[in-house]
Amino acid sequence: MPQPDPFRTLLAGQLRQAFDDDRDADTFLLRLDRYGPELKASLQATYGDAAPALMDRLLELMLHAYHARPADLKRLDEARLLSPDWLQEPGMLGYVAYTDRFAGTLKGVREHLDYLQNLGVTYLHLMPLLQPRPGENDGGYAVADYRAVRSDLGSMDDLSALAADLRARGVSLVLDLVLNHVAQEHEWARQARAGDPTYREYFHVFPDRTVPDAFERTLPEVFPDFAPGNFTWNEEAGGWVWTTFNTYQWDLNWSNPSVLAEFVDIILHLANRGVEVFRLDAIAFMWKRLGTDCQNQPEVHHITQALRACARIVAPAVAFKAEAIVAPADLIHYLGTGEHHGRVSDMAYHNSLMVQLWSSLASRDTRLFAGALRAFPPKPTSTTWGLYVRCHDDIGWAISDADASRAGLDGAAHRHFLSDFYSGEHPGTFARGLVFQFNPQTGDRRISGTAASLAGLEDALESGDPRHVEAAVRRLLLLHAVTLGFGGLPLLYMGDELALLNDHSFADIPEHAADNRWVHRPRMDWERAADAQANPGTPHGRVNAGLRHLIGVRQGLPHLHASIESHAVPSPDPCVLLLRRDHPQGVMLAAYNFSEHTIDFPAWALRDHLGDHARDHIAATAFNLGGGTVTLEPYRALWLTQS
Ligand code: GLC
Repeated sequence: MPQPDPFRTLLAGQLRQAFDDDRDADTFLLRLDRYGPELKASLQATYGDAAPALMDRLLELMLHAYHARPADLKRLDEARLLSPDWLQEPGMLGYVAYTDRFAGTLKGVREHLDYLQNLGVTYLHLMPLLQPRPGENDGGYAVADYRAVRSDLGSMDDLSALAADLRARGVSLVLDLVLNHVAQEHEWARQARAGDPTYREYFHVFPDRTVPDAFERTLPEVFPDFAPGNFTWNEEAGGWVWTTFNTYQWDLNWSNPSVLAEFVDIILHLANRGVEVFRLDAIAFMWKRLGTDCQNQPEVHHITQALRACARIVAPAVAFKAEAIVAPADLIHYLGTGEHHGRVSDMAYHNSLMVQLWSSLASRDTRLFAGALRAFPPKPTSTTWGLYVRCHDDIGWAISDADASRAGLDGAAHRHFLSDFYSGEHPGTFARGLVFQFNPQTGDRRISGTAASLAGLEDALESGDPRHVEAAVRRLLLLHAVTLGFGGLPLLYMGDELALLNDHSFADIPEHAADNRWVHRPRMDWERAADAQANPGTPHGRVNAGLRHLIGVRQGLPHLHASIESHAVPSPDPCVLLLRRDHPQGVMLAAYNFSEHTIDFPAWALRDHLGDHARDHIAATAFNLGGGTVTLEPYRALWLTQS
């Protein structure tokens, strides 16, 4: 029999005194037993000798937060522990919106809950809404106070009330947690500038260019256009401050244990307000190491493990989503590989899938797509992908030279083609996008634009040609079908359910004018929402109805549980992508025609996976695969199972 650990017995004795209720004490101690070792290990790996003192500090913060956790959230914790795969279920659907652009205020959002529920939403990501710096603030990603809500949107109490309303309807509230940087107006940065050595240690400040120049040799630029370089001189601080993103976003020094303690406290505080999922913003950049690109460093995963262990002890209902827009081989570690398996983020953005959707749509060729998926490392079965057609950010052509050459393409030339295509420069293109952050050194041109404008609806409506409109509607529904049919958590970007077009008025708002990502962050058009229902034959009505239909079908397909992977299988036609899912309830095969042509697709290519008889769940039709060919109309999507 294992000997009781004397330290643990002592700790348990002391901790019990901190509780009135024995059951509460038991719960806390059990969770500490479960997650304490991984917390300690990650602190040790990151902070070495400073780890034990940090552990004591965290224990105090956790006890405090556990006591403060409201009863209904403790109940949610229990419920989630009973359904650890809640994020993977096919009924989950995300919606991503700016509070003000969607409904004015947090109270306004509460008035639109029927709309969201009616769409099937179970996960609501409200874009950055914590108090940002005044003026330009990178869409709220420059946070000045993590404990206050942007005053024009409401208060912390409004946020809790909204979270409670959402919870009652089975919808999880998701917020951004900006980890890499704070606004230069944040109290910590103010104190640092005022000369307080404690807070100066929260940042990376260098007296001269020696260290910054050494780092710059291997650092890429995130915003080469409006914020070149990674360091900004600050007169008051008398030094060069690390600013990966905009000059007013000060990178935090995560090698300082106090920064970790601050964020544990912030996470638990917000979790007790009802936040269920944290989107770990710009997580890849948190740890700096000379001679590297300062992304994806091993310490990032140790730190995430520590943050998650604390969240699991106090608020196990909480999940983490990593926002790491990095290469697949790096990305997979954010979902937990090796020693971090099952211990870091529950979810990560599948940026590559999004990029490949747009790439195949432009080239009418899915070979690069299929090859990239085949080369993708498998994800841990307990995690899920965040799947999206568009988000609030630009599209960067994250297509590796290796993937391109496997598909017989030159990487640089293909990326160049995609930028031309989506900026509207390529002859015959249907897309209307804008170039974001042209980098003359690398030739990179990222792209802004709403899904509808990039898929050709803006151009088609202007042309007045109904065939173009038809094609654009079909393209949009194809893209949604792939993300909804991939097995993960689809994240609908606000307005895409109504095919909202580019908002060219963004340039009228001085704080937005320089950042054309605002072209695809339009205001919600509630009239159009009503019209889509009233006039289902309009382009936005058709996209809306088609999308709702796909969402409904998906909810009833157990094959789409995210624990199972989608595998690209060989397709005899380059225009058609075939994705196979091996679910215990049977094989599911999805077929997607990425071209405007009607294709006579060889039936054997489907029969090999499904046998002679299949059912397409989208059109609710039976398919006899015994014959020679199956007709695939332009941009047609099939979700087939054996019948
Ligand atoms: C993330 C956000 C992006 C923001 C950046 C800096 O990438 O998605 O909008 O500019 O982080 O916080």
